[in-house]
Amino acid sequence: MTVSSAPGKVYLFGEHAVVYGEPAVPCAIERRARVTVNRREDDRLRVQADDLSLDGFTVEYGGTTDARPDVDVPENLIEAAMGYVDEAIEQVRDVTGDRDAGFDVTIESDIPLGAGLGSSAAVVVAAIDAATRELGVSLETDELAERAYRTEHAVQSGQASRADTFCSATGGAVRVEGEDCRALEAPDLPLVVGFDGGAGDTGELVGGVRGLREQYDFAADTVASIGDLVRQGERALAANDIDELGRLMNFNHGLLSALGVSARSLDSMVWAARDAGATGAKLTGAGGGGCIVALDSTDATETALSFTPGCVESFRAELATEGVKRLQ
Ligand code: PMV
Repeated sequence: MTVSSAPGKVYLFGEHAVVYGEPAVPCAIERRARVTVNRREDDRLRVQADDLSLDGFTVEYGGTTDARPDVDVPENLIEAAMGYVDEAIEQVRDVTGDRDAGFDVTIESDIPLGAGLGSSAAVVVAAIDAATRELGVSLETDELAERAYRTEHAVQSGQASRADTFCSATGGAVRVEGEDCRALEAPDLPLVVGFDGGAGDTGELVGGVRGLREQYDFAADTVASIGDLVRQGERALAANDIDELGRLMNFNHGLLSALGVSARSLDSMVWAARDAGATGAKLTGAGGGGCIVALDSTDATETALSFTPGCVESFRAELATEGVKRLQ
């Protein structure tokens, strides 16, 4: 049996624009997905997910057939647990050369699904790390991040940047621009997260931005402006200038809003955080619903969010300095 965990993340800056080659700065947080893997005698894959912030379920199927299991759970949950794990195991078979490896996989996660906190990337990183180790192969972090990226790329029909997977594999704050991924020096930021209980459809939201960008030059300019803002944000991060980081996060939220990816619930939480004295607040991830991230070293934002209609959970998020963790 092998067990690995990997963290979720928030975007300080740059989601959506990163899809078009602009830089982005995600930051890993101490909310983790833990994946336990046992090798099977046969080549089948059994996935158990008890704790994906939704009802638990177990599915069993042959990885080599197209047969989909008959289980009564929402399609997106099936895809989350099966599509990602299935492709992750394909990467494991490819990188180890063990084409017939079958596994029992158990996923436990305290990262809300599809809410902009990188739940799928964390599951994929932890699954690949645990399953390769179960076969006696230990991947370097860069290779792990690459295999996790290929998994998301395949499952999300090519609509994936390297940001989530690289950040989850390495931990800390990172900078991603196209294929160039690197770690950043980051202070321990006073991050607060608000969650509306919902999820956005990443593919649809990315498609919406793509359409606007093709239709309007000013939408393309907005994407480019997000890139400029990220470069400015990197300087603020290096200087540990929390006030400037907050101003830029506010600006980033406005630009994302202009691109149509915010939502009433996200805007309410962003304003509740600002009214409570947060230095800055923005949506994180694809948008449409899910989470916001704010900067506040006091308890005021977390408390204000807990009383905000539409916010179902608020919590302080510690920076996860360690990415993938080998637990067993
Ligand atoms: O909502 P998340 O955590 O899947 O983040 C999506 C971020 C996008 O920039 C919109 C897409 C991507 O793959 O980078």
